[in-house]
Amino acid sequence: MGSPETALALTLSARQASDFELLSNGGFAPLEGFMGAADWRSVCERMRLESGEIWSIPITLATDLEASAGDVVELSAPNGKRLGRLEVSEVFDRDVDTEAELVYRTTDDEHPGVAAIRREGTRCLAGPIEAVALPDHEKAFARRYLTPEESRKAFADRGWKRIVAFQTRNPIHRAHEYLTKAALEVSDGLFLHPLIGETKEGDIPADVRMRCYEILMERYYHPERVILGVNPAKMHYAGPREAVLHAIIRRNYGCTHFIVGRDHAGVGDYYGTYDAQRIFDDIDIGELGIEPLFFEHTFWCQDCEGMASDKTCPHPQESHLFLSGTKVREMLSRGETPPHEFTREEVAAILMDAYGKESATDGR
Ligand code: ADX
Ligand code: MG
Repeated sequence: MGSPETALALTLSARQASDFELLSNGGFAPLEGFMGAADWRSVCERMRLESGEIWSIPITLATDLEASAGDVVELSAPNGKRLGRLEVSEVFDRDVDTEAELVYRTTDDEHPGVAAIRREGTRCLAGPIEAVALPDHEKAFARRYLTPEESRKAFADRGWKRIVAFQTRNPIHRAHEYLTKAALEVSDGLFLHPLIGETKEGDIPADVRMRCYEILMERYYHPERVILGVNPAKMHYAGPREAVLHAIIRRNYGCTHFIVGRDHAGVGDYYGTYDAQRIFDDIDIGELGIEPLFFEHTFWCQDCEGMASDKTCPHPQESHLFLSGTKVREMLSRGETPPHEFTREEVAAILMDAYGKESATDGR
């Protein structure tokens, strides 16, 4: 018989491993483990931890594993790598509909974030974690991997005081590049921090996006002013609530400012274009510890001959070019190159290459 301490084992899903990683590398500070019932409720209802600190989305470990308070569960990654252990302090049931309604503002199963928490289920194990290792990442990601401690050091080494972070789950298109460079004009440095954890089906895979980021780093971003790092988080598609979580993560990585544009972390028509900006109206920015920088919906304007927004462009709508992510993916799957006004040719070429290959191999 083994000792009770090693009797329980759990292989985490990719989504859970992503939470584990941010809990252990400091990206989720001040959290030190998976939330219990009191934090879960407090985060859902008042966007704060029980202790009072601002936190916008529950970080819970839902599982069918039979365990009770006092047990120790050995945790491993989806690939079997041993990650560490959870000291179970509590087992509780969350109400998925309450979480959906309060955090995602909908109980619709079609919402990918709501669908994900429904799939995960209600029974949660809570407690502090102890990490012995971090999940593995493929080379393209590993070479850009920075822990919050490492990014803070990188910023300090460069003497940056005002550091603006950019979240994305897309390739960097013209609009993204415009926001990041406009923000960089009034900052010391830019931290490109694309999310590489699980995204919904249909989103452009992280490995393809990585190739787009690398070519832009090589050709269009100033090497002394821009750092590219990967964010191991998964997407929740929780719009406003996720914008706040995205800001908290970047605060932990040492950034002072955070870009929030149109429909940040949104999906479909669940959120208004600027809801993810409005949520910050009720937040004390000093308390949050990072300042959001808001950007209007931007587009290419034929008459301006560049990127613009309704704030800066006096020309009629007919002169504006805007393509949604869905539209772009449709174009790619038809084998059409997205226009140069929407995305740089180098990025278009990578996407065409990836999508061409995909349709050749999976018949999609
Ligand atoms: S996500 O995390 O918000 O889902 P996405 O890649 O779609 O990632 O957007 C990254 C950031 O750029 C977000 O802050 C979003 O609001 C902003 N953004 C994307 N496209 C535009 C645009 N055309 N105009 C203004 N902001 C934009
Ligand atoms: Mg978007």
